[in-house]
Amino acid sequence: MGLGDLKKADLKNIWHPFSPLGGREPLMVKKAKGVYLYTPDGRKIIDAISSWWVNIHGHAHPKIAKAVGKQAKRLEQVIFAGFTHEPAARLSKTLMRILPKNQGKIFFSDDGSTSVEVALKLAIQYWHNQGIQRKEIIAIEGAYHGDTFGSMSIGDRGVFSMPFFDYLFEVKFVPFPEGDGQNAINAMKEIVSENTAAFIFEPLVQGASGMRMYSADVLDNLIGLVQEKGGICIADEVMTGFGRTGKTFATDYLQNVPDIYCMSKGITGGFLPMGVTSASKSIVEAFDEDVAAKTFFHGHSYTANPLACAAANASMSLLLKKKTQDNIRRISSKHQEFLSDFEQPDFVADVRSQGTILAIEIAADDAGYVSKIKEKIYDFFLAKDLLVRPLGNVIYLIPPYIITNEELDLIYEAINDFMEVLKSK
Ligand SMILES: Cc1ncc(COP(=O)(O)O)c(C=O)c1O
Repeated sequence: MGLGDLKKADLKNIWHPFSPLGGREPLMVKKAKGVYLYTPDGRKIIDAISSWWVNIHGHAHPKIAKAVGKQAKRLEQVIFAGFTHEPAARLSKTLMRILPKNQGKIFFSDDGSTSVEVALKLAIQYWHNQGIQRKEIIAIEGAYHGDTFGSMSIGDRGVFSMPFFDYLFEVKFVPFPEGDGQNAINAMKEIVSENTAAFIFEPLVQGASGMRMYSADVLDNLIGLVQEKGGICIADEVMTGFGRTGKTFATDYLQNVPDIYCMSKGITGGFLPMGVTSASKSIVEAFDEDVAAKTFFHGHSYTANPLACAAANASMSLLLKKKTQDNIRRISSKHQEFLSDFEQPDFVADVRSQGTILAIEIAADDAGYVSKIKEKIYDFFLAKDLLVRPLGNVIYLIPPYIITNEELDLIYEAINDFMEVLKSK
């Protein structure tokens, strides 16, 4: 099939995610290597957002590719009820080593949304298994936890979920922490009670709502208030996990330890989809009986797919290498250097960074995911062969850890150029 035919087939048959039908034509990618995406017409585009935040080691890392290839020849898939395999067992050991000591077991699923669904179901069934009436779920305003009905219910009631409002379950929201976070802490004091089943949050950085950042102190306070009442705290580390915020998990900055962790995205380094939910030993105990009524009846056809587990094992082994940890520190300080030199024009509402994440928020009357400036930003950077896909009026970088200082400088330069364009308007 020639390129023209491929494009035609795509346009005719494929419904792309988060993309209006009849909108822009997708760019065909022929191959990818390191931080670069290659198009059939010879373009070489820097993937500054790790392809929706997953390719933490860049694209086609040879160590992960080799591990997946080797595994494909040995065992590509096996039912995970009543059976197990080496890559899954090995991955469980690594995850248990890097997660806090209170964690007891991991549960596999398919992506970020399902890791959140599993977390919610575990938390709810934890109370059910003990015959305890606790019904309320608390989340933070502006949250994004995925696109399934459960994960939409605990997310922002906004443009993503608007058609489904009537079908979402009731959740209590605390406001996003502003400044010293007292607004959220005070609201939590009002809301939390002995009826609180669980509190779920994106630790330190709310991703999809525009890389909005808040302090570890505030989150510690919120978790403390919930745990004082015996509620379960769920850290959605789908975006923040595996080094993104500077530490292995964003919650590693906290004093209080969450009870459940949701993981996905970087876990396989972008090779294969995988979700993982881990639960504390005390949560596991409430399920620890050989009776149907207490069983966690949840699973997916591809649960713990051996290829995905092999990719995850290779990705985790790369993550824990000194070189990767040095790169994470290097990117974090490069971002901070850039921001300290950045002369913030008055049309920039805020600049912020946390670990390898950098965000520049353009002031806009229509601030939010569907802000009109989004397309302008996207086109400007893409014309410079940089994949920077803004969250509405928020330009952000979340690059693969292998990105060089020179490549980062290119992107920073483009950000400065964009500021000049806005100034001249
Ligand atoms: C914090 C968080 N949770 C969950 C999800 C959903 O993950 P997925 O898109 O893999 O379903 C995302 C995706 O961006 C996310 O950022």
